[in-house]
Amino acid sequence: MALLPILRYPDPRLHTRAAPVAAVDDEIRALVRDMAETMYEAPGIGLAATQVNVHKRVVVIDVSEDKSALMAFINPEIVERDGEQVCEEGCLSVPGIYEKVTRAERVKVRALNGEGEPFELEADGLLAVCIQHEIDHLDGKVFVEYLSALKLGRIKAKLAKKARITA
Ligand code: NI
Repeated sequence: MALLPILRYPDPRLHTRAAPVAAVDDEIRALVRDMAETMYEAPGIGLAATQVNVHKRVVVIDVSEDKSALMAFINPEIVERDGEQVCEEGCLSVPGIYEKVTRAERVKVRALNGEGEPFELEADGLLAVCIQHEIDHLDGKVFVEYLSALKLGRIKAKLAKKARITA
């Protein structure tokens, strides 16, 4: 297992659209394990392969308190969405920034699990937010891009300042 470096916004590689996984093989299983380790270590509740510069449609999520409910979503697709919720979101690629985003309250997602078996899941609340946030990553979209241009400008300035201090 290995910890993977996480791309930081506004790294242009975060805007890459990830390609579907053709087969859940040993390489994909190793990627899922490394992504899970990286997510737990960060710590975070979700991670998309895009964020570790692997442009394949793979997401890991664990919204449990005690890291006991790891889920892998390979080639995830939202097939139904319903309602609306506003949640304050953060992202391992945008450290220290938390902003409210409006998303669907409930989603039905179809994907392959870590063994390559198809499944369907109906999610609401935090899990639904997390699924939508991570699938956005696979499509090259970062949550701060839902904000106004003014707010996004302020966030970019803040991140650039932080990068200068830590560089
Ligand atoms: Ni994120």
